[in-house]
Amino acid sequence: MRLEGKHILISGGNGRLGRELIPLLKQEGAHVMAPARQEWDCTLHPCGLAMPSIPDIIIHAAAYTDVKKAEEDKDECEFLNIEGTRRVAALAERLKAKMVYISSDYVSVEPMCFYAFTKLAGEEFINKRKGLIVRTSFKPRNHWGENALTGVFHPVHTNCDWVDVIAKKIVDAICEGRTGIANIGTKRKTLKELAQQEYPEVKIIPVEEADKMVGYIYPRDTCMKLTI
Ligand SMILES: NC(=O)c1ccc[n+]([C@@H]2O[C@H](COP(=O)([O-])OP(=O)(O)OC[C@H]3O[C@@H](n4cnc5c(N)ncnc54)[C@H](OP(=O)(O)O)[C@@H]3O)[C@@H](O)[C@H]2O)c1
Repeated sequence: MRLEGKHILISGGNGRLGRELIPLLKQEGAHVMAPARQEWDCTLHPCGLAMPSIPDIIIHAAAYTDVKKAEEDKDECEFLNIEGTRRVAALAERLKAKMVYISSDYVSVEPMCFYAFTKLAGEEFINKRKGLIVRTSFKPRNHWGENALTGVFHPVHTNCDWVDVIAKKIVDAICEGRTGIANIGTKRKTLKELAQQEYPEVKIIPVEEADKMVGYIYPRDTCMKLTI
């Protein structure tokens, strides 16, 4: 157990990634505090959270994650992703906790959509000597299911993988005590290849149609030089 006795506070614990991270962190022996947004709104200052123990590590996974809506809802996206991150980073600094910031593979792609701009701006608040910035991408396994997105844009190249796969890698990075920027993903592939692992009959949408559908320039290639 590589996190035996460590106290970890996680924001966004009820989100797609947070729900995967919590049991993995516990398996490594960590005591995990994962307050819901109602208990800890990370944009509030002071943080307003009654903590049963002082965290050694704060994982900041809460974010405005609706990339399409962010293009129209800029103020809210900016406030949560930039100001919220600044406040969580300040809390980590005050408590002398290590900050782990979940960023995005979109931050190194041009042209940048508004969501990516806010995630990149959030990185500025992380002390790169002591903290960890995770640039990554993931999908829930039911992402292309009947009630979710109906098609996959193609060709789009990515290091994205299923959220359970990526969560394990993030926990490994934390256990290894990594700092600075970690590009986390799995080998280069098309999104279509990923989608077909779960939905062989997934509808293919030419990527040329994507920009109009999502309202920003849909990144065609988000591959990174992987750290893990
Ligand atoms: N999904 C992806 O493909 C992807 C790719 C790259 C990076 N990321 C990053 O990975 C992280 C996790 O993403 P995700 O897909 O798991 O997101 P998600 O499912 O949308 O979850 C976001 C979480 O943040 C919480 N939250 C929102 N506003 C908050 C606030 N003011 N205070 C506290 N909590 C708040 C939400 O609470 P409620 O449950 O109450 O709504 C939710 O639990 C994010 O930082 C995201 O930018 C995601």
